[in-house]
Amino acid sequence: MKRVLITGTAGFIGYHLAKLLLAEGYVVHGVDAMTDYYDVSLKRRRHQMLLQSQGFTATECWLEDLNRLSKIAREFEPQVIVHLAAQAGVRYSLENPRAYLDSNIVGTFNIMEIAREVQVEHLLMASTSSVYGANEDMPFSETDKCDTPLTFYAATKKANESMAHSYAHLWNLPTTMFRFFTVYGPWGRPDLALFKFVDAMLDGRPIDIYNHGDMYRDFTYVEDLVRGIRLLIDAVPVRPESSEDIEDGDSLSPAAPYRIVNIGNSEKVKLLDFIDAIEDALGIEAKRNYMEMQKGDVPATWADASLLKRLTGYQPQTDVRAGIDRFVAWFRDYYGK
Ligand SMILES: NC(=O)c1ccc[n+]([C@@H]2O[C@H](COP(=O)([O-])OP(=O)(O)OC[C@H]3O[C@@H](n4cnc5c(N)ncnc54)[C@H](O)[C@@H]3O)[C@@H](O)[C@H]2O)c1
Repeated sequence: MKRVLITGTAGFIGYHLAKLLLAEGYVVHGVDAMTDYYDVSLKRRRHQMLLQSQGFTATECWLEDLNRLSKIAREFEPQVIVHLAAQAGVRYSLENPRAYLDSNIVGTFNIMEIAREVQVEHLLMASTSSVYGANEDMPFSETDKCDTPLTFYAATKKANESMAHSYAHLWNLPTTMFRFFTVYGPWGRPDLALFKFVDAMLDGRPIDIYNHGDMYRDFTYVEDLVRGIRLLIDAVPVRPESSEDIEDGDSLSPAAPYRIVNIGNSEKVKLLDFIDAIEDALGIEAKRNYMEMQKGDVPATWADASLLKRLTGYQPQTDVRAGIDRFVAWFRDYYGK
């Protein structure tokens, strides 16, 4: 079975991905620095759960520490690296852009260096729907031009895509970049809307609704997302002989074994409908605090997920109401509320 190095395994998506791969018999080594961007005890708890599997080992390590990363990679000898660790969060990038520079630019560079050093079969890394920035054509497609990032977070992820393309070209390093769309589900991030809404509603506090609720998101259930990642591990990009070999709608580069893939539900959900669904799941009416649009925010995201389907045969499909129910059940159980 394959040996996979995953960064960010104490994080929301990394935890779910590691859990899925371990269940399928993969051998997984996790790397995470347990940053204090949000509640570290939630991260430690996720790692404790993973450590119950025999196939899982982990090192607490910063992405910025190349020597240490290199030692881990030489000892573990991964065939595949899935790089998910990052300074995430759109809004925090207005407050502390340097954290994004350090984790996302320097950190991702170091991951590319170790991937090259140990010559992995496939390097897969997280980008984001935020790179579509001010694009207005919907749904967002991987072949659309994306030169208008609206936050520094998005800018670092767009930079990661360019950096990865150069390494894929120079060192023939097969690389897939994922663009994730608003991921939610059990063990979710405390800085994201669903967590904040449920927490506030259970405490009787008001919830902040930006742009007066006139927002749309392509919400992706976390177990669907990691299923998509799992399948893409086997969809190793191959540098085409000529650009004529690239099929219409495929983001495969003409110059490198490199591809970008959206992972989203391909369904645009109105924020107010999302909130209605949370109210139904909790049986509580939200106290709604309508606000202006936040700086750097986009009114809508919507994924064209046809490339994922073409490459893997898979299409995320968890209905948002079912996903919210599962999140609420986890939240109430975990926090005893
Ligand atoms: N959750 C979403 O909706 C979403 C959407 C688009 C893209 N993404 C991307 O997916 C990836 C995973 O996101 P997530 O939601 O699981 O976030 P998360 O914050 O829960 O997980 C990231 C993990 O990386 C670790 N980390 C951060 N900086 C580090 C550093 N410098 N060195 C070592 N470890 C570090 C953190 O401790 C954390 O456990 C990120 O790259 C994020 O940008 C997430």
